[in-house]
Amino acid sequence: MERIIFLFVIALLWPLTGSATSSDPSVYKADVDITDKASLQRGARIFVNYCMGCHSASYMRYNRMGDDLGIEESILQSNLMFGTEKSGDTMTIAMQKEDAEKFFGIAAPDLSVIARSRGADWLFTYFMTFYRDDSRPFGVNNLAFKDVAMPHVLWELQGIQKPVFKIIEREDGTQQEVIDHLELETPGLLDSDGYQNTVNDLVNFLVYVGEPAQIQRRNVGVIVILYLLVLLVIVYLLKKEYWKDIH
Ligand code: HEC
Repeated sequence: MERIIFLFVIALLWPLTGSATSSDPSVYKADVDITDKASLQRGARIFVNYCMGCHSASYMRYNRMGDDLGIEESILQSNLMFGTEKSGDTMTIAMQKEDAEKFFGIAAPDLSVIARSRGADWLFTYFMTFYRDDSRPFGVNNLAFKDVAMPHVLWELQGIQKPVFKIIEREDGTQQEVIDHLELETPGLLDSDGYQNTVNDLVNFLVYVGEPAQIQRRNVGVIVILYLLVLLVIVYLLKKEYWKDIH
């Protein structure tokens, strides 16, 4: 019986152990942890300061974010909200869709559920792989999103990367120049680790925004599992008690 309980517990905990990693260096892995409130708070700050000029997150309310992330109302008001907003407002922006199309040729999409449609690793890779491309309107291109119509808004932090090319042979024997990797050309305010941590906080925040209820749901999940474990012990003891006269 002890062995069965042991196996049962292992089976319950199994999903918590380890995570798959990829060996492809051109695809970055986000280290998502939505229970890390400090990271979510930093991510929220980056989002408000660097993204909400163009993107909204219109399914998200400021006060819900404040509650979930443990941000006090006064800090929410002074650091994360624009003057005229109320804390029950959703995270919308002032830029009109038509203006955005005029400026960028395409409206900046709402980012409420972007982490669900693109996935955290894609977002991480997107913010790691902007590079200088003088043929593009904003002077940058992106490895994850070819010919993207968004400027590299975090360039001050990351610096500017340039592509390093290599020649590959196509199947028909002709040669083609492709990007081998990106190299930092002009350093930014942050070093490589600092920038990756910043991007990770931002992605973490976007994952949270994509499904805010998951924080509560996980807490409930842990309580339910603990409850079942306690129940298991009680039921086992009860069973022993019932059967002891029969054997
Ligand atoms: C100056 C305006 C502007 C700012 C600031 C800006 N973006 Fe964008 N963003 C755009 C535009 C325009 C597009 C659409 C690009 C396209 O479709 O080619 C876009 C596209 C994106 C996409 C890809 C969406 C898709 O179709 O999958 C993501 C993700 C994104 N932005 C995230 C961010 C984040 C996060 C920030 C803040 C760090 C940010 N953006 C800041 C204008 C902006």
